[in-house]
Amino acid sequence: MRISASLSLAVLALASLSFTTEAVALPPTAASTPSQVALTPPMGWNSWNYFAERVTDKDIRDSADQIVATGMKDAGYIYVNIDDTWEGERDSSGVLHTNSKFPDMKALADYVHSKGLKIGIYSSPGPKTCGGYEASLGHEQQDADLYASWGIDYLKYDLCSFIPAVMEKQAPHDRAAQMRLMIAAYDKMSKALKATGRPIVLSLCQYGWDSVWEWAPALGGNLWRTTGDIEPNWDRIYDLLEQQSGLASYAGPGHWNDPDMLEVGNGKLSLAENRSHFSMWAMLASPLLAGNDLPHMKPEIKSILTNPGVIAINQDPLGHQARRVYSQGEVEVWSRELKDGAIAIAILNAGSDLYSTHPFHLSLAKLGLHGPQTAKDLWTGKSIQLKENEPLELPSHDILLVKIDAPK
Ligand code: GLA
Repeated sequence: MRISASLSLAVLALASLSFTTEAVALPPTAASTPSQVALTPPMGWNSWNYFAERVTDKDIRDSADQIVATGMKDAGYIYVNIDDTWEGERDSSGVLHTNSKFPDMKALADYVHSKGLKIGIYSSPGPKTCGGYEASLGHEQQDADLYASWGIDYLKYDLCSFIPAVMEKQAPHDRAAQMRLMIAAYDKMSKALKATGRPIVLSLCQYGWDSVWEWAPALGGNLWRTTGDIEPNWDRIYDLLEQQSGLASYAGPGHWNDPDMLEVGNGKLSLAENRSHFSMWAMLASPLLAGNDLPHMKPEIKSILTNPGVIAINQDPLGHQARRVYSQGEVEVWSRELKDGAIAIAILNAGSDLYSTHPFHLSLAKLGLHGPQTAKDLWTGKSIQLKENEPLELPSHDILLVKIDAPK
């Protein structure tokens, strides 16, 4: 059981009724220079989905080693991110120390950097993190300076205890005022990070409240969670996917929608489900932060996570997030534009009954295409011909992901 799960659930339950609608006005911010980091969706690995509160310095070093040894680094995975539970206590000067699981954060950062990788860390704008550890309220600049002195390259900033400790205390029952407090808290950390002079990716983790995609880029957010937490099961992954439709226009170089970290290789996901999850996160221009047990990664999981064609879609420099073009029964068709006029199309059979949606007839016309198209199937690597209304066999929870270089 993750130690933060009950706190997170309580916080989300408390707030879910009142914080899901349109954004309130953004306060003036000085942190709006164009981002020079995360020009394509950040790729890397994060400790939470597999290790949760158990993560140690050794796990981070082992994972960094594995990212190199497995070829994930060469495939583009660069950030090694420590999630919650690294924090110790503050000393009499307010300086935050690590806990005994992380004896020397600077040495750990140096180690990760020595592998040609970057390192990320985690905190909260509240007094405590989601896991109940020391967080940054009242120490924002001091913590940002500390991260920079360690050589940190990425911060995930998770709302959690800021809700009861500040929003509900300072502005009880005033939703608009609570939202202003939340936005100001993220703005404060964004400015604190900028003041360090070190380029540090800022990841907002506040579960998509208050249409975060509308205000996060202006205050320097490079990515923002659009949902609650992912879990390693198909229903939850599909639930998160469904929440992404309509958000495409908010993504672009330096600022990305984040439907949460990958569960590829975790839980009991089938190979088809792992493929579909990875394909759709790639199509969504989502950050690709693996969350699996790298030292024990199976070859078939490695080949999903390192598929170059699928990663190239995710990392396409235009940064155009896929849109859902149409659905037929439980089959969904998504597409996105890529550089040089190419397009990617994902056809996902989200249905649990193989036969309810079969055969599926692909409409090229609905995708704005005219006549037969030559495409590359990114999972088999083969060239295929797509024809109008052609029946396609698509097993349950599986996906056909294709790239068309010269669409007609
Ligand atoms: C929240 C976040 C998770 C993780 C945990 C850590 O639940 O959404 O991604 O960071 O906190 O406590």
